[in-house]
Amino acid sequence: MNTPIYDFVKELNENNVSRFFMPGHKGRCFLGIEFEQLNKYDITEITGADALFVADGIIDESEKNATKLFGSRETIYSAGGSTLCIQTMLSLVKMKGKKIIAGRNAHMSFINSCILLGLQPIWVLPKVSDKYGVCGLITADQIEEKIKQNPDAVAVYITAPDYLGNVCDIKQISKVCDRYGVDLLCDNAHGAYLKFADDNKHPLDLGVTMCCDSAHKTLPVLTGGAYLHLSDKCKYAKSEVKNIMNMFGSTSPSYLILQSLDLCNWYLENRAKNEYKQIKTVVKQIKDRLKSKNIPYLENEIDFCKITIDANKIGYTGDKLKSILYKYGIECEYSNSEYVVLLISPFLQGPDYNNLFAFIDDIKVKKEIFKNKVTYTLPEVVLSPKEAFEKDFEIVNVEESQGRICAQTISLCPPGVPVIMCGEKINNNVKKILKNSGNIYIKVVK
Ligand SMILES: Cc1ncc(COP(=O)(O)O)c(C=O)c1O
Repeated sequence: MNTPIYDFVKELNENNVSRFFMPGHKGRCFLGIEFEQLNKYDITEITGADALFVADGIIDESEKNATKLFGSRETIYSAGGSTLCIQTMLSLVKMKGKKIIAGRNAHMSFINSCILLGLQPIWVLPKVSDKYGVCGLITADQIEEKIKQNPDAVAVYITAPDYLGNVCDIKQISKVCDRYGVDLLCDNAHGAYLKFADDNKHPLDLGVTMCCDSAHKTLPVLTGGAYLHLSDKCKYAKSEVKNIMNMFGSTSPSYLILQSLDLCNWYLENRAKNEYKQIKTVVKQIKDRLKSKNIPYLENEIDFCKITIDANKIGYTGDKLKSILYKYGIECEYSNSEYVVLLISPFLQGPDYNNLFAFIDDIKVKKEIFKNKVTYTLPEVVLSPKEAFEKDFEIVNVEESQGRICAQTISLCPPGVPVIMCGEKINNNVKKILKNSGNIYIKVVK
């Protein structure tokens, strides 16, 4: 597979072209020496370099390579992460109406897009898996029920995998959506690599209409690199999708990111399948070692590169385990009061695993921490997120917030799952969760 974007910039460098174009560093080193090579490859939309949002040259060619690799109808590059793809997917479906059925385990990028676009999410609460009841699995039955109750909903939006590695039954959900003629959008930010696992469980192959993958999260791609995949079910023309992306994205998308997406195609074609096969064995070794010490973890059979350790069961908080891991030279992906999440990839090396095994061998397993599970119920929706966001607000003490309409979105942790969002009424249950997680003040509608 060729790498047309990278090859173009390489040739530009070989020809020693005088850069009377942007960016201002002119391909020369101005910061640390580490940037010397990077700056040479950081270019803009000069003649021959194509343009991301109206691509018909090297970017188009590279996107076609990605399309082939993912088996999509069209795969479109984003240099603005999955966030840009989510804004785009939602703008497209918004042309048909405002209501969208969504799993509550949605990321902040979805919520912000709803505020921007004036969409009204109809929430589906995942079946409980964490103590707030917001990380977990939503089911096809739940989706069907919501579609029946909301025949004017324009799409269903799911997040799979979520931050802990939960993956809902996309195939069953897609069958329901097909039956009712509703588009299924999937935030697959965490699962680009699934396509290259031996038992491919990529959402594109399970019936979604569109999905986004943060290539940068799991594949060897620079931060910000992502894909927006359109399946055969998706009726929008590629040019129409790009027009929308153009409205949210920078007019100067990073060519470093585009080149890393381009080079990644080569990796995906030549190495990925084999390396993900091998990594499964490594993951099994890690899990066996955890098992031998009675350290519980979420099964994550599909999102197998995510190791989610249940810290409470061995007497720690996830945050405490994270700080202990740090002493072993390991920075983990994420921790909260319950879990710690480690991301595995073929690009980790022997010494990295040695650090992890040393941690597992040394960690003292203590008595389980029992916590009262808080039963989370969805708050009542009073205003749309956009309406609430645009209203005058005041800041009140959480203690006094019950019964008020929230004017902000509060998520407890990086996964971005909202406990309360703009336009929802703060109930006693939400108040308790907010207080327990250290929130003192909250913005409410005046
Ligand atoms: C589930 C989920 N969706 C979407 C995003 C946004 O992705 P990106 O950072 O690529 O814009 C994230 C980022 O952490 C995420 O975790």
